[in-house]
Amino acid sequence: METPSTEKIKRLWLEVVKPRMWVAFVPHSVLFLSIFVGIVLAFFLARWYIHTQPFSSPPVEVYPLLVALPESAPDPEYNIRTPEKVDLGHKLFFDVRLSRSKTVSCNTCHILQGAGVDHRTVSVGEQHRAGTRNTPTVFNAAFLPMQFWDGRVETLEQQAALPLITHHEMDMTPEELVNRLLASGYLPYFASAFPDEDEPVSYQNVTFALAAFQRTLITPNARFDQYLAGNHKILSEKELRGLKLFQEAQCATCHYGPLLGGNTFMEFSHGISDDRGRGNLEGHADEANVFRVAPLRNVTLTYPYFHDGSVATIESAVGMMVNEQVRRPFNVLEVREIVAFLRTLEGEFPAIAHPRLPDDVPVFEP
Ligand code: HEC
Ligand code: HEC
Repeated sequence: METPSTEKIKRLWLEVVKPRMWVAFVPHSVLFLSIFVGIVLAFFLARWYIHTQPFSSPPVEVYPLLVALPESAPDPEYNIRTPEKVDLGHKLFFDVRLSRSKTVSCNTCHILQGAGVDHRTVSVGEQHRAGTRNTPTVFNAAFLPMQFWDGRVETLEQQAALPLITHHEMDMTPEELVNRLLASGYLPYFASAFPDEDEPVSYQNVTFALAAFQRTLITPNARFDQYLAGNHKILSEKELRGLKLFQEAQCATCHYGPLLGGNTFMEFSHGISDDRGRGNLEGHADEANVFRVAPLRNVTLTYPYFHDGSVATIESAVGMMVNEQVRRPFNVLEVREIVAFLRTLEGEFPAIAHPRLPDDVPVFEP
């Protein structure tokens, strides 16, 4: 067979291939290309459509004991809220005249323009005296069935009575406090908050007004609450994996209820502080190292962690909980997923302004 000459190839190209190219090859390629583009487009369209459809069921079922934060806190019947009482409590919360040296207010430790904490390891109060425990947040404390790391009192009224007279916090006595308030121009505010009383400026009424104000410190509408309300798209894949892990790793057996904690006591010791928790309370010697299960609402914002503030970051706090309370060890990625879920518990903080405080009553020498 003779090899085709260049001449022959050229002729073949011009007479056979080139004319067919226009009638067959080009239209076919255009056809195939459009089919391909069509398939790709259809894929993305379908994806978009599926994404806009609501889930028929949540991607991760939430345990029945993990419930949404209520929109408002109930009042006890002996201390019903009125705008006047809340306003008085707001003033008292910010007033440094409630402490002996007139330098410490509730807001010194529970900073309401932040997350209701001071971010110190342990709190520092009157005369820079250090306390023994980390400051917990006052946001949502209204929902706690018991107050303090050891749950030693139940209500916000009982709680408020304590920092005012604690040596390392505000260091007053009830009598001094009442006299201080009378000299500080508070009488008309107490009179309108407690209109039926002859002597409205009393130690008890200070605690009642503070409690009434604190019942307004609620952080609703966290992304987790929106998820519970049926908006199943609000959580990312990572957050959902975190929620799943939180439940599977039994965190929720202790951390449950609207605050994800705060309802029960558990033994917790990690050898750093010699705080014995409930074991320090009279008649509870058998409860050494027992503490209240910490509530987890806004927990990613309230560092450092644990009753002694010994752990600086949420990642290490979660790692610690895993070592202490859960049998199965976690890897770093799993810890991050749980932390991602904990971030969905950050709610909407109310804007709290620094209030206008009453002026001291002038003293006239006769
Ligand atoms: C010097 C810092 C400091 C001051 C001032 C202070 N607190 Fe606290 N607060 C703390 C610490 C620390 C705790 C936890 C103590 C414990 O568990 O034993 C706490 C606990 C609380 C709790 C309980 C929260 C929970 O999760 O159990 C509430 C509510 C509270 N304080 C409100 C107030 C009010 C109201 C005032 C002002 C009258 C006030 N605090 C003044 C540091 C302070
Ligand atoms: C056996 C009960 C129990 C289990 C299970 C448990 N915890 Fe805790 N958790 C506690 C107690 C009690 C505290 C308070 C410790 C203290 O006094 O400092 C706490 C505190 C925390 C804190 C620190 C809160 C703060 O404000 O300082 C975080 C975060 C936390 N737990 C997350 C978790 C995670 C995540 C899991 C699951 C891996 C988990 N917990 C499992 C009982 C438990």
